[in-house]
Amino acid sequence: MTINPKIVELREKRAQGRLGGGEERIEAQHNRGRLTARERIDLLLDKGSFREIDAFVVHRTNDFGLDKQKYLGDSVVTGWGTISGRLVYVFSQDFTVFGGSLGEVHAEKICKIMDMAMKNGAPVIGLNDSGGARIQEGVVSLGGYADIFLRNTLASGVVPQISAIMGPCAGGAVYSPALTDFILMVRNSSYMFVTGPEVVKTVTHEEVSFEELGGASVHSEVSGVCHLAADSEADALYLIRKLLAYLPQNNMEDAPFVPNGDDPLRMEEALDSLVPDEPGKPYDIKDAIRLIVDEGQFFEIQEAYAANIVVGFARLGGHSVGIVANQPAVLAGVLDINSSEKAARFVRFCDAFNIPIVTFVDVPGFLPGTGQEHGGIIRSGAKLLYAYCEATVPKLTVVTRKAYGGAYDVMSSKHIRGDVNLAWPSAEIAVMGPDGAVNIIFRKELAQAEDPVQRKAELVAEYRQKFANPYIAASRGYIDDIIEPRETRPRLINALEMLSNKRDTNPPRKHGCIPL
Ligand code: HXC
Repeated sequence: MTINPKIVELREKRAQGRLGGGEERIEAQHNRGRLTARERIDLLLDKGSFREIDAFVVHRTNDFGLDKQKYLGDSVVTGWGTISGRLVYVFSQDFTVFGGSLGEVHAEKICKIMDMAMKNGAPVIGLNDSGGARIQEGVVSLGGYADIFLRNTLASGVVPQISAIMGPCAGGAVYSPALTDFILMVRNSSYMFVTGPEVVKTVTHEEVSFEELGGASVHSEVSGVCHLAADSEADALYLIRKLLAYLPQNNMEDAPFVPNGDDPLRMEEALDSLVPDEPGKPYDIKDAIRLIVDEGQFFEIQEAYAANIVVGFARLGGHSVGIVANQPAVLAGVLDINSSEKAARFVRFCDAFNIPIVTFVDVPGFLPGTGQEHGGIIRSGAKLLYAYCEATVPKLTVVTRKAYGGAYDVMSSKHIRGDVNLAWPSAEIAVMGPDGAVNIIFRKELAQAEDPVQRKAELVAEYRQKFANPYIAASRGYIDDIIEPRETRPRLINALEMLSNKRDTNPPRKHGCIPL
């Protein structure tokens, strides 16, 4: 049977569009160790679920010889599909067409799927691989970026937005991801910078490589811009699928309930001996988290940045939860500028998307010093305080050891609307640690003591006995119950279920003024 020539034409055009910038450039992309825009979409989405739109869009520019270089679909592939059966919208920038650079129609294509995602309440995933604003299109490209930035901002807190950085992303190409909820990068293959090494050299005379300026290591360890660093593109795409499993489709829904074989009543004896008897001795709070959550599965976010606080997703009795935990194994779990901001952002994300927050507290206080004070620890600590105060999702708190000073208040205390606040018998809840407290309140006595070392030891022991425990806080109702560590999992799951219909609101206002 002969095929209608019009259908032949359509098929030919489609095949041509699929080649993007052509076979040579596809080969160059592969030689760089990178996948093409379409190969990435295929790996990300459920097999056969991708529906492309705007495959026939071409740019409208005639300057700089662009009229002779038109590519069907321009430099971005857009559409929708499913991940584990759930709808998502996707754009994937095509580096083989003008280096994935963003001009007028490229921006229009992204805006179109963002508008659809907002109307239909589903996540937007951006696979970024772009040289930034398309230089030949001038200010029109800048306008296109601004159109996307506006949509990123309006979609914030409405639908989850995830950005994977799959190649070199410069200029405007980093600011759209920066407005989204999670940024993933690929080690030794993806880069983010506002201005590249060449510009840096001209302006500051610094010689710096792509990797040193904006590689995955820099952004996941130093700047904190990257939330998840992957070893390969396939790994990054897999991590997106994993992350989405913890998130709802939009702010009007709950995250999916995923029942599993882990017994909600499971006791964990190992927790009883996890906290060392010596108050200064570290332990790894992630050991506690893994023992408590379903099947030991903890999906950590920003693992290598500000490791003195741990944030990530897990399930408890099948319910998705956000976990925030001071990490006594790093800087004694102290709160500093970076850890406060890391946790504040995570708490706000969970609150925006109806994900209950479970907080594990073992914090000696805020980090002292000129570096922190001059760097604005007051403002940064206030961000975390603000984030916890405004959060109306179910908030569960477990004090495992230290909860001292302002840090006690900050870490989801009862006073700032903690719903269920539990403490282990090892908890020490007081204004400050015994050593510091004795130095201040007994300064005169110690100065006059015959044997100040001996006297101080006695006073410290007395203070510890009196104040470094959970009973005073519990006697005031600031702690709802003191539990055996082994009971933590069943108690948290019970509390989550008790709170499943929780309703709480903040006063009506345009928006609060978080101390940014
Ligand atoms: C048009 C571009 C382009 C751009 C790259 N290309 N960037 N075309 N506009 N911004 C084209 C190249 O001409 C080349 O075309 C192809 O893409 C591949 O680029 P190469 O340079 O050969 O690749 P590579 O060596 O891997 O380097 C990639 C790169 C580099 C690091 C991204 O191309 C680069 O530095 N580009 C410019 C980055 C930049 O300064 N962008 C503007 C930022 S200003 P052919 O035909 O040879 O395949 C900005 C303002 C927005 O974004 C601000 C909003 C807040």
